Amino acid sequence: MPPQPAPPRTGLWLVGARGGVATTAAVGCCALQQGLIGSTGLVTELPPLAAAGLRDWGQFVLGGCEIRAGELPQAALDAGLPPALVAACGDELRAIDQRIVPGVVHNSGSAVDQLAAGDAARRFDTPRAAVDAIKHDLDRFRESERLERVIVAVASSTEPPTDATRLPDSWEELEPLLATPHDCPLRASSLYAIAALESGCGFVNFTPSLGASCAAIDQLAIQVGACHAGRDGKTGETLLKTTLAPMFASRNLEVMSWVGHNILGNADGRILSSQENKQSKLGCKDAALDALLGREPGDGPQSLVSIEYVASLGERKTAWNHVHFRGFMGVEMTLQVTWQGHDSALAAPLVLDLARLLDASSARGERGAVGALACFFKNPVGAPLEGHAEQFAALLKHYAGRHSAEASDH
Ligand SMILES: NC(=O)c1ccc[n+]([C@@H]2O[C@H](COP(=O)([O-])OP(=O)(O)OC[C@H]3O[C@@H](n4cnc5c(N)ncnc54)[C@H](O)[C@@H]3O)[C@@H](O)[C@H]2O)c1
Repeated sequence: MPPQPAPPRTGLWLVGARGGVATTAAVGCCALQQGLIGSTGLVTELPPLAAAGLRDWGQFVLGGCEIRAGELPQAALDAGLPPALVAACGDELRAIDQRIVPGVVHNSGSAVDQLAAGDAARRFDTPRAAVDAIKHDLDRFRESERLERVIVAVASSTEPPTDATRLPDSWEELEPLLATPHDCPLRASSLYAIAALESGCGFVNFTPSLGASCAAIDQLAIQVGACHAGRDGKTGETLLKTTLAPMFASRNLEVMSWVGHNILGNADGRILSSQENKQSKLGCKDAALDALLGREPGDGPQSLVSIEYVASLGERKTAWNHVHFRGFMGVEMTLQVTWQGHDSALAAPLVLDLARLLDASSARGERGAVGALACFFKNPVGAPLEGHAEQFAALLKHYAGRHSAEASDH
C-alpha cells in the first residue's frame, strides 16, 4: 500500500510563550498528543463539538514569541504543573522552545518594559517596522513547519488601556499612522493582531489588552479575509456572573449590589498590581453586568471589582462574590460564592479550544470577528453581551450545527 500523505497541520503561535497560560497550553497540547491526559476542561471535547470535524491535537504545531529569557520546561515547573508530566513532555517542550523567538515591545507600559530583558525583546522605531518583523516570524514558522494555516494567540501580560479617542474608525485612516513614530496609539497586542491578519492568520486575544477589538482592525480582517476572536478569557468570576446574573433576572429578583474581590499571586497578578494595567482588566470584568440583569447601562446595581496581588497564593486565585438582592415584599437576601481556581489550568484549555475553533473558522473562510466564540470571553467582540447559556448555544449552533448540515449536503 502506498504511504499515506501526512495530515495537514496548523501552527499555534503563542505570544507570551513562556507565561503561565501559554506554558500550560503547551504542556497540555503535548500531553494530549501523547495521550497522557484526559479531556476534562476542554470545551471542544464535549460530544457535540467532538463530532464537529475539528483538527486533531496531533495536527497542531506550537511556536511563539516571548520578551523574557528562559526555558519552557522550567516555566512549566514554575507554573506548578506536575513534574512527572513536564518530564514526559520534555523533548517536545524543548522543540517548542527552539521555535520561540524574541517578542516585540511597543508602547507596552512600564510594568511590561521592566520584564523585557536584553536580546529577548525587540523594539522598533515605528509600529509598521514592528508589524513587518512579526510577519516575517510568522512566515518563517509557516514555511519551516510546512503549515497549512496559522493561528496567533496573544497570552501576554496585560497592557494599560489604549486611548480609544485617538483611534480612527477605519483601517484606511489607521494604516498610515503605523509609519509614524509617535502618532499611533496602538500597543504591542494590536501590532500582533495587524501582523497576524495581514499574514492571513486567525487571531485570538486572550488578554484584556486591545488586540483586534476596534473597528479599524476589524475592518482590516474583513478586507483581507481573516478572522479573529477576543477579548480576555472568561475563566472565573465573569463565568460565574454571566451564569448567575440571568438567574436573578429570570426570577425578577432585584440585585442591588455585586462585589467581586479577587486575590492572586502569579506573574499576571504582579502585572495587574500596576494601576494602569489593572484598568484594562477591571474594564473587561465589569462590562456585562447591567446588560445581563436586563437593566439600562448605568442603571444597574452598584458593582465593585477589586484585584489584589498576594504573592503566597501563586497560581491559586481566590474570587469572592457577594451579591446583595431584594425579593418579594422587599425582603433582602445575599448570595456569597467563593471560587478558588488554578488560574492557568482554567485558562490554558480554552486557548487550545480557541485555536481549534478559529482554525475551523479560517478553513471556512470566515472574516472579521467571530461572535460565536463569545462564551470564551469576558468582553466578546462581534456579539451582544449575553448570558453564558445563550453564548454556549450559539457556539454549538455555529460549529456543531453547521458541520452536521455540511456533512448531510455531501
Ligand atoms: N490565567 C487566567 O485565568 C486568565 C484569564 C483571562 C485572561 N488572562 C490573561 O492572559 C494573559 C496571560 O496571563 P498569564 O497568567 O499567563 O501571565 P504571565 O505573566 O504568566 O505571562 C505573560 C507572558 O507574556 C510575556 N510578554 C509580555 N509582553 C509581551 C510582548 N509584548 N510580547 C511577547 N511576550 C510578552 C511575559 O514576559 C510573560 O512571560 C494576561 O493578560 C491575563 O490577564 C488570564
